[in-house]
Amino acid sequence: MAIERIVNTQNNNDEQNEELLDLSLRPRTFADYIGQERIKTNLQLAIKAAKKRSEPIDHVLLYGPPGLGKTTLATVIANEMGSQIRVTSGAAIDRAADLASLLTNLQDGDILFIDEIHRLNRSVEEVLYSAMEDYAIDIMLGKGPTAKSLRLDLPKFTLIGATTRTGALAAPLRDRFGHIHRLEFYEPSEIAKVVERSSGILGTSIHSEAADKLSTRSRLTPRIANRLLKRVRDYADVNGDGIIDTVIADKALKLLEIDNLGLDNTDRLLINSIIDNHQGGPVGLNTLAAILGDEATTIEDFIEPYLLQIGMLERTPRGRKVTSKAYAHVGKTPK
Ligand code: ADE
Repeated sequence: MAIERIVNTQNNNDEQNEELLDLSLRPRTFADYIGQERIKTNLQLAIKAAKKRSEPIDHVLLYGPPGLGKTTLATVIANEMGSQIRVTSGAAIDRAADLASLLTNLQDGDILFIDEIHRLNRSVEEVLYSAMEDYAIDIMLGKGPTAKSLRLDLPKFTLIGATTRTGALAAPLRDRFGHIHRLEFYEPSEIAKVVERSSGILGTSIHSEAADKLSTRSRLTPRIANRLLKRVRDYADVNGDGIIDTVIADKALKLLEIDNLGLDNTDRLLINSIIDNHQGGPVGLNTLAAILGDEATTIEDFIEPYLLQIGMLERTPRGRKVTSKAYAHVGKTPK
């Protein structure tokens, strides 16, 4: 990602302290997990039933915009099942043999979490089919006419896959998941609760009006809410007495150039460019990518979903258009 954004929904792996803090903020049980009520109800039922039968739960596919808690949900499921979880990513599994080695090292009841599962290549994906369906994989020994296929039995495991785009998943793979859940953007009131819970864990005191303020600036995304909270807490510690009230929150957010809808410079650049250079659109995704100097997939995954959600942007067959709400937000009138 070319642009460094405070409202970035990507996990920043080079910031180790932040990572550790993020881990401590993550809920570990359903009781602590705020929001996504429908998904929680379904999963809790599945877990109860599986435990009653002493079986692993069926494979789970979680999809939706980044930062909404797919990885967190996977770890909650593992905790609630009392299972071990192995975490990997579609981009990290290059060859079928890599996946075979992961699978054969699992134990009965383990959970294998594959983030960005849409990035698995076809040959790896095919190994998953029999693994998911029959708890077995076929390994080819040798080459040519004397090659033999050897069937290896696997432990009874649960695959949890996460993706920002189910469209990119081959139908045979998607169909092998027993539970398919789309994570939705959170309600502002839920984000305010996340902020208050996280403040408690960080030992920071925050006024409820300030938590409300952060909740409207966090793109309805817990990962961003927690990141903003940490930056506002820095500001309160340096420029105040450490307590976060609305005055401190306002000043810190202004410094971060985040406006009243949670948009940052990148979002505003996108909106202004569509208006100024393309009469409000429609504009193709690749043109937008060129404007921002970013990858088309980054725009699709990290910038657009929230702008679409709050009605600033529209997707049409000919490209993206800004809405009258977007014009009003940047103080312009459609020509
Ligand atoms: N921190 C990040 N996501 C959360 C959630 N959904 N509930 C509680 N705390 C969180």
